[in-house]
Amino acid sequence: MLTLSGVGKRYSTGDRALTDIELTLPKGQVMALIGPSGAGKSTLIRCVNRLVEPTQGSIRLEDTELTKLSGHKLRHARRSMGMIFQEYALVDRLTVMENVLSGQLGYVGFWRSFLRRYPQEAVVEAFRLLERVGLTHAIDKRADALSGGQRQRVGIARALLQSPKLLLVDEPTASLDPKTSRQIMRLIRELCAERELGAIINIHDVALAQQFADRIVGLRAGEIVFDGHPGELTGEMLTTIYGEEDWDTTPEPMDDEASDDTPSNASYLRETATMAAGSAR
Ligand SMILES: Nc1ncnc2c1ncn2[C@@H]1O[C@H](COP(=O)(O)OP(=O)(O)O)[C@@H](O)[C@H]1O
Ligand SMILES: [Mg+2]
Repeated sequence: MLTLSGVGKRYSTGDRALTDIELTLPKGQVMALIGPSGAGKSTLIRCVNRLVEPTQGSIRLEDTELTKLSGHKLRHARRSMGMIFQEYALVDRLTVMENVLSGQLGYVGFWRSFLRRYPQEAVVEAFRLLERVGLTHAIDKRADALSGGQRQRVGIARALLQSPKLLLVDEPTASLDPKTSRQIMRLIRELCAERELGAIINIHDVALAQQFADRIVGLRAGEIVFDGHPGELTGEMLTTIYGEEDWDTTPEPMDDEASDDTPSNASYLRETATMAAGSAR
């Protein structure tokens, strides 16, 4: 179980990204976090794994107060949280299998993984996961030879290799076509159910959120303005979250300049590398 209480974040630029967030995610719950660009969705999930330092409040994962951790304990806690980015956080010149195994970086140490020597049990588990996400045929392909949906499946397998207690997912479908988006959301949903894994999924596609999440939390300007069942999300509530719009004639109110708020490929890779390097030390 994950509990955020009184969480706030003010960036050094003075931007107040989150204010007094109260949120409890029970074990196994799949929660969609929706809201317009700049609402604070990415900041919230990054506060949980401390890619961003919250400036106020407490974040607990089971018995661990995450905001107070540093060094070895922080790296250990991070390994219990699987992070799935927009499709891009793969190393293009590595194979599918190698990309999945890089999720083990924290366990096997930097040099061993640099030399691409992984423990046999990690390889077996990676194989099993790739089978589960439907990529057995592509194990030896380079990541840059894959389609967007296949890349995201690799990202999912990699996040699960660490046997996390929680999944943090930032805009998993932002660059996928509608059909592939649904397949990816369905896969995440099924894997969470199979493993009793809780997830926070940032997603700006309201229809997808309603279809695949147990619960929807709406953020607006850094504050929670809706927290409820997908069926309770009315047009009026969408107006509260996103602003005025005729929601009945706009089934997918998602065109909110999403490209502006998603950090570049390079910054995702940098983050992943930093996390991996951090946990290897
Ligand atoms: N690294 C940063 N430095 C300063 N301000 C930031 C940074 N990242 C995000 N912000 C600001 O925090 C607010 C929330 O951003 P973000 O969490 O990315 O929202 P979302 O993911 O919902 O689009 C925005 O006002 C954004 O400009
Ligand atoms: Mg974002």
